[in-house]
Amino acid sequence: MFYSAIRKVLFKFDPEIIHELTIKGFKATGSSPLNLLYKQNVADKPVEAMGITFPNPVGLAAGLDKNGECINAFAAMGFGFVEIGTITPKPQPGNPKPRIFRLPQANAVINRMGFNNKGVDYLVDQVRKANFKGVLGINIGKNKDTPDENAKDDYLICMRKVYNYATYITINISSPNTPGLRSLQYGDALNELLSALKSEQKVLTEQHGKYVPLAVKIAPDLSSEEIESIAQCLIDNNIDGVIATNTTLSREGVEGLEHGDEQGGLSGAPVKDKSTEVIRLLAIALDNKLPIIGVGGIANGRDAQEKIAAGAKLVQVYTGFIYQGPELVKDIVDIL
Ligand SMILES: Cc1cc2nc3c(=O)[nH]c(=O)nc-3n(C[C@H](O)[C@H](O)[C@H](O)COP(=O)(O)O)c2cc1C
Repeated sequence: MFYSAIRKVLFKFDPEIIHELTIKGFKATGSSPLNLLYKQNVADKPVEAMGITFPNPVGLAAGLDKNGECINAFAAMGFGFVEIGTITPKPQPGNPKPRIFRLPQANAVINRMGFNNKGVDYLVDQVRKANFKGVLGINIGKNKDTPDENAKDDYLICMRKVYNYATYITINISSPNTPGLRSLQYGDALNELLSALKSEQKVLTEQHGKYVPLAVKIAPDLSSEEIESIAQCLIDNNIDGVIATNTTLSREGVEGLEHGDEQGGLSGAPVKDKSTEVIRLLAIALDNKLPIIGVGGIANGRDAQEKIAAGAKLVQVYTGFIYQGPELVKDIVDIL
């Protein structure tokens, strides 16, 4: 009720300006008594996955807190885990504005942010300051100006820098707004990337005396053969988890709507069934060898149940959170 009144006002303004103001507000209040404005008690519903105990199965998806500036605010809202990033080795501005569009008739968003972020050193500094004791995922990617053939180096740079601060690390190879990134999902490119990251994980485990699991985040725009082949590669490389899915390039469900033909990744209700189908096929191909984190179009407890029924162990939300606010976390946890 409370958030729907606030949303009416927020949605009158440019989405990126509102995003920046909200991040500033959460950053300023996350660790202060003012977090009572959004703090809520959420039931304990622990889930074990990737060797981690998640206090509840509902996480914040990557991209909302790209620089890790509001970790404590999202924790106060009751998220069982918070994924920050995508972060890249060097800071970069991302694509020209406007680059994020609301499609309220479809409960959807189209974005072509292009990994705008302040760089991995800034993020690590934020994580240190947050002193957060919960489950923290750090999502890593490559800089736009890094040639595709050197992409692996960017992931390695980020992995080394965030290793000591992450509960798990997400390898993002599925954002549609960095040219060439999604090609890392296929064949030899995927195998080479994952085996390099697994070798580095071994070195870092020795160095830091702790094992930090690696999860790979994939796109919804994959054929069933591609899903099977990715699943086999994840198993062969002993990857710890998989996040399905990122935003879609499809425009099904938003044709003819204002902003429906903007370039970028579509999220929210229109991606829901597509991502559930990817989870279902992945679950069959993975045969419980690694856990799936389901994300895409979750806007209520029932949507989350669908993801779990399809084979996900945990879920994440982004666009549903923009439309429903913090109450969504509690609503989902209560029903799961
Ligand atoms: C504005 C925006 C920015 C995003 N940025 C990232 C990102 O940096 N890294 C990433 O892995 N996913 C990113 N995502 C994708 C979300 O994490 C999520 O996978 C996707 O939106 C589907 O979930 P949803 O329908 O609940 O939004 C972004 C999504 C949106 C809407």
